[in-house]
Amino acid sequence: MSALLATDGLTKTFGGIVAVDGLDIAVDESELVGLIGPNGSGKTTTLNLVTGFHAPTGGAVLFDGDDVTGMKPYQVSKRGIGRTFQISKPFGRMTVFENMLVPNVPYGPKEREERIWKLLEELHLDHVAEHRADALSGGQKKLLELARVLMLEPKLVLLDEPAAGVNPALMDEIIADIKQINERGTAILVIEHDMSVISELCERVIVMNAGRQVTTGTFEEIRNDERVREAYLGGA
Ligand SMILES: Nc1ncnc2c1ncn2[C@@H]1O[C@H](COP(=O)(O)OP(=O)(O)OP(=O)(O)O)[C@@H](O)[C@H]1O
Ligand SMILES: [Mg+2]
Repeated sequence: MSALLATDGLTKTFGGIVAVDGLDIAVDESELVGLIGPNGSGKTTTLNLVTGFHAPTGGAVLFDGDDVTGMKPYQVSKRGIGRTFQISKPFGRMTVFENMLVPNVPYGPKEREERIWKLLEELHLDHVAEHRADALSGGQKKLLELARVLMLEPKLVLLDEPAAGVNPALMDEIIADIKQINERGTAILVIEHDMSVISELCERVIVMNAGRQVTTGTFEEIRNDERVREAYLGGA
């Protein structure tokens, strides 16, 4: 079976910086995969390339049997890839409910409203539905972003540091929510620096360094890998 998402020699340079350097990674259908690596190793840039926020300098992105390289973000999202941002950016002056109305969903108003309430309940945001988004805590903003992405029923969701800046109580909730979304069949690729979150969540982990995949395996497999230690210690 071919992978749901695959990058083939994906490359991105910014001036003299090679942010992503001939990257080959894959995510299978319904998989929950972690993407880790030191600061500046190219994780966020990889997400930006896959979702069309940046055009690659070279290589290809294949999704669900199609070449989606160089497509615009709205085209990629229409095909079934959702993403959240390292710094979540809901529309602050709009309410939580209004934020949920933003995605251009392919179904009618009644179904839209039902789905909004279902997602707000699932992600513990129903009690703040009428609050302005900029009044939410950091963790709630992340949950709102995730809820909004799920309006489009994506096949794959890319999460950029969903646990960063989230208080410990909400953290457990976010982890449980991500697991539940995945159990319903949505593939997830999650960038995260918190190793307890990665070990708790991920069936498989991809380790990046300097724009490349260093290795991939279960958390147990990669945690004792010398190449992974070297990546985090700057190759010393
Ligand atoms: N828009 C941009 N313009 C110029 N350089 C960029 C841009 N985006 C990323 N870079 C550079 O590309 C490299 C990879 O950055 P990226 O944000 O992908 O790393 P990251 O692995 O997500 O790091 P972190 O864990 O700190 O979020 C870095 O050297 C960064 O400075
Ligand atoms: Mg990043």
